[in-house]
Amino acid sequence: MNILLLGSGGREHAIAWKLNQSPLCDALYIAPGNAGTAACGTNSSLSITDFAGIRQFCVDKAIHLVIVGPEEPLVKGVVDYFKANPIALSAEMAQALRLSQVPVIGPDAFGAQLEGSKAFAKAFMDRHGIPTAAYREFDAGNFQEGVEYLQSHSLPIVLKADGLAAGKGVLILNDREEAIREFTLMIRESKFGDASKKVVVEAFLSGIELSVFVLTDGKNFVVLPEAKDYKRIGEGDTGLNTGGMGAVSPVPFAGADFMQKVMDRVVVPTVAGLQAESIDYKGFVFIGLIKVGDDPYVIEYNCRMGDPETEVVMPRLKNDLVELMLATARQELDQHTVEQDARIVCTVMAVSGGYPGDYEKGKIIKGLDQPISSDSLIFHAGTAVKNGDIVTNGGRVLCVSSYGNSISAAVQQSQNVLKGIDFEGIYYRTDIGFEFK
Ligand code: AMP
Ligand code: GLY
Repeated sequence: MNILLLGSGGREHAIAWKLNQSPLCDALYIAPGNAGTAACGTNSSLSITDFAGIRQFCVDKAIHLVIVGPEEPLVKGVVDYFKANPIALSAEMAQALRLSQVPVIGPDAFGAQLEGSKAFAKAFMDRHGIPTAAYREFDAGNFQEGVEYLQSHSLPIVLKADGLAAGKGVLILNDREEAIREFTLMIRESKFGDASKKVVVEAFLSGIELSVFVLTDGKNFVVLPEAKDYKRIGEGDTGLNTGGMGAVSPVPFAGADFMQKVMDRVVVPTVAGLQAESIDYKGFVFIGLIKVGDDPYVIEYNCRMGDPETEVVMPRLKNDLVELMLATARQELDQHTVEQDARIVCTVMAVSGGYPGDYEKGKIIKGLDQPISSDSLIFHAGTAVKNGDIVTNGGRVLCVSSYGNSISAAVQQSQNVLKGIDFEGIYYRTDIGFEFK
């Protein structure tokens, strides 16, 4: 069968690498992809939000399955577009796949609000008794009430722009006056554009974070390996937030008892809630959790896989990913059990000098053709091919994921590979997994 994967990050390279291993996958297209995905299939310069263009591509290339990597097309309604403009599978493929139309893996725009609207996600959690920080939501209509609420709120105060704000819409403030100032900027001055017309004010939770990945068909689900990512640019989790500088899986503090609580209190009620509300959700739910004492609380939902978490999750997933995607489309995930590689996988992300601030692109990446250990995988993120060279094309450039018997061994192995890779300004953290070493 022929598959189209939308996206261009390290996440998509890891998904493409995994799809490519399936005997069910004949042709794989990645749009727009990066220099790494080009080795797993064929890149196409389609825009991920040009739904008519994507549909036409599917018709032209006889695509049988579409998988959406990032949130933007989902929040903007790519699933809805294909529902309104379905592509019928040929009689032969319909019979082979036991599906009538080309499925698009991901929630519809309504379901994608789990990520696209913090207020939607909080209200969903409230309705289904899912543990999360206490909150209130405010907009121009009850702005003054919001200011009064902030005047008596305990510190620190967490302010969240309701909509998508490229990972920048959450502020954690220790100063009340500053919180009121930021709250005002968000609602009255559109600090994050339309995304901050509405603001969620939330209690601060103190604990350690991890990410749990659920694949649901809207009725049944499987849980993929969990992971922890490292968001800060600097060693020891210091400095500015980034898209993610590394990740580890499994997560040492997520033992069986804790994961059972996550299952009972969060995963089961989340999927049951989607089903009870008839939300058409056939895709990944990324649950950002915080462990407070021994109890899990939801910090956020995302309607997609994490990046760089996917770069450690996919190497640990033993199942055929195409089979899981088809089972999702058919609502047959109850017939599947996830099998995890027992080994630890860690990834270390190499970024452009200056990131997450300003940085230059187009730096030639050297050392990508070095022979590397079979325990390591190089996943490209912001890379492109220019005049026959592979060059940097984003802040997060590439990551090296390695298997190991310990976190230290896996991280060391990734660093050994990174020592052989070079581009002007290259930077990576050398302490991924530091608290577990
Ligand atoms: P979010 O975009 O909701 O994931 O928030 C970004 C980051 O802010 C999270 O990964 C947490 O580190 C932090 N954060 C968000 N909400 C809270 C909270 N209620 N208490 C403590 N930290 C939080
Ligand atoms: N690594 C966090 C995210 O993908 O949102």
